[in-house]
Amino acid sequence: MDDTIQSLQLGQISAVIGAQWGDEGKGKIIDILAENFDIQARAGGGANAGHTIVVGKEKHIFHLLPSGCLYEGKDIVLGSGMVIHLPTLIEEIETLRKVNIDVVPRILISRAAHIVLGYHKKIDAVMEDRRTGSGGKTIGTTMRGIGPTYADKAYRTGLRMGDLIDMSEDELKRFVQNSAVNAQKMFNCSVNSDEELKELLEAKKLLGDRIKDTVTYLQKMYKRGKTILIEGAQGTLLDIDHGTYPNVTSSQTTSTGALHALGLPPQSLKSCIAVVKAYCTRVGSGPFPTEVTGKRGDDLRERGSEYGATTGRPRRCGWLPLHDLERAINLNGYTHINLTKLDVLDAEETIPVYSSDDKFEELKGWQESTKGMTSFADLPEKAQEYIEYIEEKVGIPVSFIGTGPGREEVIMRATQPD
Ligand code: GDP
Ligand code: IMO
Ligand code: MG
Repeated sequence: MDDTIQSLQLGQISAVIGAQWGDEGKGKIIDILAENFDIQARAGGGANAGHTIVVGKEKHIFHLLPSGCLYEGKDIVLGSGMVIHLPTLIEEIETLRKVNIDVVPRILISRAAHIVLGYHKKIDAVMEDRRTGSGGKTIGTTMRGIGPTYADKAYRTGLRMGDLIDMSEDELKRFVQNSAVNAQKMFNCSVNSDEELKELLEAKKLLGDRIKDTVTYLQKMYKRGKTILIEGAQGTLLDIDHGTYPNVTSSQTTSTGALHALGLPPQSLKSCIAVVKAYCTRVGSGPFPTEVTGKRGDDLRERGSEYGATTGRPRRCGWLPLHDLERAINLNGYTHINLTKLDVLDAEETIPVYSSDDKFEELKGWQESTKGMTSFADLPEKAQEYIEYIEEKVGIPVSFIGTGPGREEVIMRATQPD
């Protein structure tokens, strides 16, 4: 293990959890840390997530596969809290095969994870339409069928990965036909159930023997002392219980939600890494008190390439809300911060930081390039001050600092022994 990472004492089980509204840069840090863990486990969410990893000239965007899957020899778990669109998963698997990475033999998909079917996506669109139609505002979902799939889970009418192997072809056929009738009746959307069945059977053929009781597996591995890196999707402020409801996703996105989704006990989590953008972004509707519009916001978007990894939508940009970060720290029990995209602020003359909706301070910018830097000591003084200011305000060490999208473009700061 890298000495600096060793000094951070991440422990046997560590979770990487977004502190904002998603897209904080979780994929990159998971890819960096993955080498140091035996098992990579994605907890919840579905293909609404888009986690980007840049290795040399190659760029990978994972929607369902854990971001640590590029390392050979590591088991990868798709946890019980997930909602899985099988054609998307197969496409991701095939894309990796083209670069000679075959993840199938080391995937374990939870029997309890729910399956996103075509009609869930259609209902997602109908629901968004109905929201506008009734004078309300849309959520701006990713249209990946996430809400309707979790709704089916709550109704107890969902189809789970375990059903795919337990049900006969006839039973699956009846299930998709019934769902098509219901979708037509309740949402007036037409569903091609033959197509749905074909996709399910294809997935069963390719992945049937990779569907497992991942809860028992993870608990066994935990007891054996194997190390596990938990990948959270979305971000704390999108959590269904603790986020900016109703402008949230339909799952739990916090560290406790992730443990629950994987079936691991609370005391098993030894560290939790907050992924925090050095500023802040949000895609979709909902409150964003520190949002900056006009040219300054546009400039941030361009410098940070802030366009959704899943939908390509332009992300709304703004400044760092420290009060939200403190709330996220309290919810997740963060032990370390990974401050991402520091380099995107290089050109700013001043950097506003909010400590509540109407209280802000303006720090001086550094106006020098930090791109690709790997040592804290090399950072311009004002950049160091920005980081130390955040640490002082929230009381958690900034252990990782992102200085570019590439795997190598990161500063790791050792924790000094007491
Ligand atoms: P995730 O959903 O949290 O994994 O984040 P996304 O992949 O959706 O969005 C983060 C984007 O920022 C991706 O395009 C990353 O390649 C990029 N990125 C991550 N860290 C850094 C960084 O430190 N600097 C810059 N410039 N880009 C970064
Ligand atoms: P990652 O893992 C950013 C947002 C959507 C929308 C709301 C509900 O890449 O950080 P949904 O399709 O989940 O019903 O949409 O949540 N959203 C995300 N925003 N990053 C994500 O994932 C997101 N997943 C969902 O834009 O506002
Ligand atoms: Mg993303």
